[in-house]
Amino acid sequence: MEESVIREIYKLKTERNAVILAHSYQPPEIQDIADHVDDSLQLSRIAASADASVIVFCGVRFMAETAHILAPDKTVLLPEPKAGCPLADCIDVPSLRSIQAAFPNSLTVLYVNSPAEVKAESYACCTSANAFEVVESVPSDSVIFAPDRNLGMFISRRSDKEIHVWNGACRTHALADIQDIKKHIEEWPDAELLVHPETSPEIWELADAILGTGGMIRHIGSSRATRFIIGTEEGMVYKLKTLYPDRKFIAAGKIYCPNMKVTTLPKILDSLRNLEPVVLLDPAIREKAYAAVARMTEITG
Ligand code: 13P
Repeated sequence: MEESVIREIYKLKTERNAVILAHSYQPPEIQDIADHVDDSLQLSRIAASADASVIVFCGVRFMAETAHILAPDKTVLLPEPKAGCPLADCIDVPSLRSIQAAFPNSLTVLYVNSPAEVKAESYACCTSANAFEVVESVPSDSVIFAPDRNLGMFISRRSDKEIHVWNGACRTHALADIQDIKKHIEEWPDAELLVHPETSPEIWELADAILGTGGMIRHIGSSRATRFIIGTEEGMVYKLKTLYPDRKFIAAGKIYCPNMKVTTLPKILDSLRNLEPVVLLDPAIREKAYAAVARMTEITG
């Protein structure tokens, strides 16, 4: 059954001139059929430059929206429209405007894990791969950073700028448990612990490196360690095992994002067949959000 679905996906993908993009948190069977599996920054770059008419985005809504913002001439499909992001949903336009009114001399740097309408009200966007670089580059010594408080705190500890951090958090990274992690460190004392900046600061204290998912991939490539404890969504462990079959990986705990697991092969097939559900934004919102996303790409190349 699965094989015939996969065959049909490949056939339709060619007929539709489609590209399948998958975030590294996606389930193994989705990563296996995708053309590109990567972090949110790389996927948005690929979406912008892909020579395809259709982008099938296997991830969550804000990622597919970013693809649409950067590639409005392509049809962007989100096979399961319920794939949301509670972190993105913890900020809206009125609440951002109220903090902007409280700090009128600050520029807003918005994590891409946010709705397009809020991006449209921001100066620049960032991902976990470039958040510090973007904050350092914006032309103001005072920055509002939203919506993830841990990533905001991670930047403010390293930056001399005044940073007003929004109090949002990722429910999935909140599942990272310090006792589980200590147990893994005891079991694998030679391993490097890599954690995502959306985990809490008490976890950072134990880590060898605090990195976004793309940063983890690059770090492992140049590390001498052979074993790694991975402190981010557990789908990442599959991605790393595929990339580095000679190294050993273990998830730092039951760090599971239900929204990243709702996309299935039959849903991808349906979306290619019917060319829906399409991700579409109001053109005025898209254009304003584009300015913020484009600033990120200008800053980080
Ligand atoms: P990356 O930017 O590392 O891909 O992470 C995406 C994400 O949604 C983390 O929760």
